[in-house]
Amino acid sequence: MQEGFLFCLLVFHFWWMQRTKKGVFALYFGGYMESNNTRKWLKSHHDTLFPFFPYFKKQSIKWLFDRLGERGGEKGALYIHIPFCTGRCTFCILTKESTSGNTLKYVNSILDEAKDWSDYFSHVETIYVGGGTPTSLSPEELKLLFDGLGNRFKIKKDAEISIETTVSELTEEKMNLLADIGVNRLSVGVQTFNLGLRKVLGRRGRGKEVIEKLNMARQVFPLLTIDVLYDVPGQEKRDVIADLQKAVGIGIDGISFYPLIYGPKTVITRQFEPPPIETAIEIFKSAKSFLEDKGYNHININHFSSGRDKFRYSTYFNRLGNVLGLGAGAMGFLADCYVKHGPTSKKYIGNRAGNVFNVPRNIIPVLWCVSQLQYGRIDVEEPKRKWSFNPLDAFAKTIEKCVEKGEIIIRKNVIELTTEGMFWANTIGAEMAVECLYDGKGELVSLEEIKPRDSTRK
Ligand SMILES: C[S@@+](CC[C@H](N)C(=O)[O-])C[C@H]1O[C@@H](n2cnc3c(N)ncnc32)[C@H](O)[C@@H]1O
Ligand code: SF4
Repeated sequence: MQEGFLFCLLVFHFWWMQRTKKGVFALYFGGYMESNNTRKWLKSHHDTLFPFFPYFKKQSIKWLFDRLGERGGEKGALYIHIPFCTGRCTFCILTKESTSGNTLKYVNSILDEAKDWSDYFSHVETIYVGGGTPTSLSPEELKLLFDGLGNRFKIKKDAEISIETTVSELTEEKMNLLADIGVNRLSVGVQTFNLGLRKVLGRRGRGKEVIEKLNMARQVFPLLTIDVLYDVPGQEKRDVIADLQKAVGIGIDGISFYPLIYGPKTVITRQFEPPPIETAIEIFKSAKSFLEDKGYNHININHFSSGRDKFRYSTYFNRLGNVLGLGAGAMGFLADCYVKHGPTSKKYIGNRAGNVFNVPRNIIPVLWCVSQLQYGRIDVEEPKRKWSFNPLDAFAKTIEKCVEKGEIIIRKNVIELTTEGMFWANTIGAEMAVECLYDGKGELVSLEEIKPRDSTRK
């Protein structure tokens, strides 16, 4: 899923954690042990972070600035969150708000905050602008944002610069403007080309219009990526393959292939039951083999690349590199700390300082290993060398169980997920974290379960 979306989920988790305090952890880790037929499918890799939350230590921004100051300027990535969107998608669980009169103030607040941090970066290798729908900003605001970032940071000449958009926003004029201000990787939320399913999802426009716009975008941007959803009510394997076939036909460089998360408060969750998990597994396997046959690489659990799309931004995020998050709801990771901002544009404009949560040194190797599962493999030697941490010992029981199920293969110095394992990757990551941090005594929780209801699918 787009990283903007992932950040939003993480923000929501933090918010939930703060609201519910200890009680929620009694629920997470209350001694419930899952059995095979109640195993939960965690769809977001932020679900794997739940077990880590109780270990985080709140610190002040000044504490973080001092820490960064000691390290000297390092390279990093920027994530900018633009929460504005006029869409009414039935499934959307993102931090978003309707376009209000404060968009210019909002952009200026982002640039003010960027100034606070710029001295701590030697240079920026990648920028990701997520939403909401960032292209709902006016052309002047978009230009102001990109020029302002360029003035505040040394942005590498070959930096990967992505922005999320939606088809209804994509005019030829806007595409040219984005290319002019430096965007070289356009990420379009398609979800599906299928008219019936687009209606279920509340998406605007017909599949034909989407294809036309993507063909136009293909001419303008060096890298063109799209989001496609599976696990949608009423969706069959052939619908998904037809979507992927169209994407391949257009020459899309990167396909983010996400399972639909049934957020408790969304229209879609109220109206439909999720399909059985067996359908989701079958679709995931078929999609993977279809795209690999067409020459795409499965570069992380939710992303396929034609080879050209490196998705450098997500690499920063998953390798615990320096990510500076700017804007409402934005989350960053700097010097072993998550930095989280207030959830609305109004709150952000009023107070742009983020909250800082430090991940203790002894927890970093666990977090690092769990994050590597996003790529389907953990290199055993690296954590041994860096932290004297042996994942084969730390996660021995989870590994044994997954090897039995055919989800993990142990190769020389590598813990590798099979296709089945890639489907369960987030669940396996959370199981590893719970084994290591709680001696295996804990229940896994997904975003779909925030409202009490049994979303476990058998
Ligand atoms: C910020 S949106 C992309 C840009 C634009 N707002 C759009 O929707 O076209 C990021 C992505 O989050 C994903 N997303 C949103 N809600 C989701 C959900 N409930 N489950 C899975 N993915 C979701 C969609 O694939 C969407 O394209
Ligand atoms: S267009 Fe994107 S951000 Fe807006 S409601 Fe739809 S999924 Fe959410």
